[in-house]
Amino acid sequence: MPDSKLSSSIAIVGAGDVGATIAFSLIMNPVAGDILMVDPKEEVRDAQIQDLSDATFHGDTSTQIRAGTHKEAGQCDIIVFTAGAKQKKGESRADLIGRNKSILESAISDMQPFAKHTILLLVANPVDVITYFAQKYSNLPKSQVIGSGTFLDSARLRGVLAAKAEVSASSIDAYVLGEHGESQFVAWSAASIGGVPLEQTLLPNTKLDKAAIAEDTKNKATSIIENKGATNYGIGAVTASICKSILSDQRNIRPVSHYQEDLGVCLSIPAVIGRQGLVRTIEVGLNEEEKTKLKKSVEALKEIINA
Ligand code: 2OP
Repeated sequence: MPDSKLSSSIAIVGAGDVGATIAFSLIMNPVAGDILMVDPKEEVRDAQIQDLSDATFHGDTSTQIRAGTHKEAGQCDIIVFTAGAKQKKGESRADLIGRNKSILESAISDMQPFAKHTILLLVANPVDVITYFAQKYSNLPKSQVIGSGTFLDSARLRGVLAAKAEVSASSIDAYVLGEHGESQFVAWSAASIGGVPLEQTLLPNTKLDKAAIAEDTKNKATSIIENKGATNYGIGAVTASICKSILSDQRNIRPVSHYQEDLGVCLSIPAVIGRQGLVRTIEVGLNEEEKTKLKKSVEALKEIINA
C-alpha cells in the first residue's frame, strides 16, 4: 500500500553525498511526504534530485523530492543540516570548524524566521560544536536543536559487540558518549545485552579487549575516509532513524548531541527523542573513570568553541 498520508516535510541542507544518502534512506523508509534539497550548487543539487527521484518512482512511496530554498527549509518539520566541508585525509572533525561555522551562520540567517515547531538536526562536523552554534544563531528552544552526535559511533560499537556475542545488534544497549570525535568514550559500566551485564552474556572463551574496541570504534570513520574519501551510509541510516523518532514521536532513547546546562556544551548523552525533539536526558550511571572522560570531552569541546 502506498503511504499516501505522509504529510510532514524534511529539508536537507547540503546536497553532497551525506545529504543525498540521508534523502535516500528517507525514501527507502518513508516518514515524510516532502523532502526538500537545499544547496546553492544548483547543478549538483538538481542532479541529486533527479537521481533520487528515480528511487521514489521505484517503490511504493508517496515521498516527493524537490529543490528548496533556505527560507522554505525554515518552514519544514525537520531541517537536517549537512552543509559544509568534509574531512580530507589526515584532517580531524575539529579542523572543519572555521569553514563550517560561517556556512552555518549564513544558512541559518537565510532560514529565519523558523516555523515554531521545526527541529534543527545537525549532522555537519564537528557536530557537537556545530549544534552549539546552531542554538545560538537560531534562537530556537534548546530542545529543538540536536546533533547526530555519537549515535553513529554507538551503532559501530554495537556492530562489534554483536559479532563478539553472536546476538543481533538491536539486543545490545551500549553507548559511545561525549564528543563525536577524539575525546569520545564508551560507557562500559552501562553496557548490557538483553538487559544482562555485558560480561555475563558473552560465550565462554570470548575475550573483550575493551580498549581496542573503543579505539577501533573511534577510528572507524578515519579508516573509511582514508580508503573511500568520505563516510555516508552509516550517517544516512542513523539520521533517517532520528527523523523517524521525531516525526512518529517514537520516544526512542538515542545518544544524540544536545545542550548540557551544567556543562555549557553540546555533547552526546542518551536522550528520549520525540516530536518536540529532545524530550529529556537519561542519566547514565557513569563510573569515576568515565566521569573523568566526560570532563575531558567537555574541555575538548570548549577548546574548539573558543578557538
Ligand atoms: C563519521 O563518523 C565522518 O563524522 C563522520 O562517519
